[in-house]
Amino acid sequence: MNTRRAFFINTLATASAMAAAKSANIESRFAKKDFRGLTREDLPTPSMVLDIDLFEKNLNHMASHCKANNLNFRGHVKIHKSIDIAKRQVALGSIGVTVATEAEAELMSGSGVKGVLLTRQAAGKEKTNRMVALAKRDTTFHMIVDDIVMAESLDAAAGAARAKVNVIVDINAGLKRAGIEPGQKALALAQDIVKNRKNLAFSGLMAYSGGASHTKGWEARKAKSMADIAGMLETAELCKKAGIPVNIKSGGSTGTYNIDPGYLTELQAGSYMFMDTGYIKIGSKAGNAIYDDFAQSLTILTTAVVRQHPGMATIDCGLKGMVKDTDTVKGRPDMKVGAQGAEYGLVSWQPGDRDLKLGDKVELYPTHLDSTTNVYDRYYIAKGDNIVDAWPVMGRAGAAQR
Ligand SMILES: Cc1ncc(COP(=O)(O)O)c(C=O)c1O
Repeated sequence: MNTRRAFFINTLATASAMAAAKSANIESRFAKKDFRGLTREDLPTPSMVLDIDLFEKNLNHMASHCKANNLNFRGHVKIHKSIDIAKRQVALGSIGVTVATEAEAELMSGSGVKGVLLTRQAAGKEKTNRMVALAKRDTTFHMIVDDIVMAESLDAAAGAARAKVNVIVDINAGLKRAGIEPGQKALALAQDIVKNRKNLAFSGLMAYSGGASHTKGWEARKAKSMADIAGMLETAELCKKAGIPVNIKSGGSTGTYNIDPGYLTELQAGSYMFMDTGYIKIGSKAGNAIYDDFAQSLTILTTAVVRQHPGMATIDCGLKGMVKDTDTVKGRPDMKVGAQGAEYGLVSWQPGDRDLKLGDKVELYPTHLDSTTNVYDRYYIAKGDNIVDAWPVMGRAGAAQR
């Protein structure tokens, strides 16, 4: 063999050995936070990739919007389940975070995030006692109640534990899933807390209009939101007349963030940081069909693992990895996405010069963030094509621990 050819073969062998070592060592490199030289191409799939520039733009836009409009921000955790993200929000001025579950409340408070608000009623002995214990450890913690039975049992548990629990009365805002009827009934609950429950501290009211968040068209969304939270605003007036200060009026979402100022004291939006394909279709205040106030920063990276049919590839992201048939592919609006099974997805396109090859990677935009992020262990943080960090998704060990 001549020396030039030997040199060429050796170089190739070294390069492929380095590539093999890079992928074999990926977990130990992540453990050491050693991301040098890693790109999207090196990542195992399916995996979540967060475009840090778009993400930070979203975070900054929301933070400056809230500051400019004198609105406190307490973003929802169920979308991301990430301490890294919550701490970034706090650094930008958030007063705390909103959580849906007891485990999220414990996780966030335990990691040092102050001002956690639990928006699902902690009914039943196990949940009540856990949240009373949390309230004792963390005096900035708040939780909602929408029922006099809950106020009574929470007060008794708090008394037994010698704790004081900050509570917010949850008012029905359209969705039948939660919230006491506004008006006299809600006032009676607030009065009961103030007068009879010495271990509870009444802080204010909440009204979350899930129906408004995805209403198409900004004017229609505004009308829906205003109609849904009117009962909470009326209840706040009744409380004030009865001498009960309402310091907090909490609610709102990504869809209503520029509707809520002036009505709410704080905003619970969550999806704005990543955005999903459901949200981008609701339309912007400027009248655009695409809701472009926030960018789609989160994608699911997948690999084409079968190429047997023209204009069609099987990818390694199926029902267990989020795929629904309305998902879209980043940079390929011509592609359609479907599910083939638990571990198989399908992308299809018009055969031509942009055919996917076996082993090619594509990135999908999630349809529904909460249920997508919940099935991954970490966010791979990308700056351009380079992977620069990895943030764990926390607290998703099982239904009861989520
Ligand atoms: C109580 C509550 N508040 C706020 C939000 C945040 O909404 P979004 O992710 O649409 O901004 C949700 C989402 O479902 C919610 O359930």
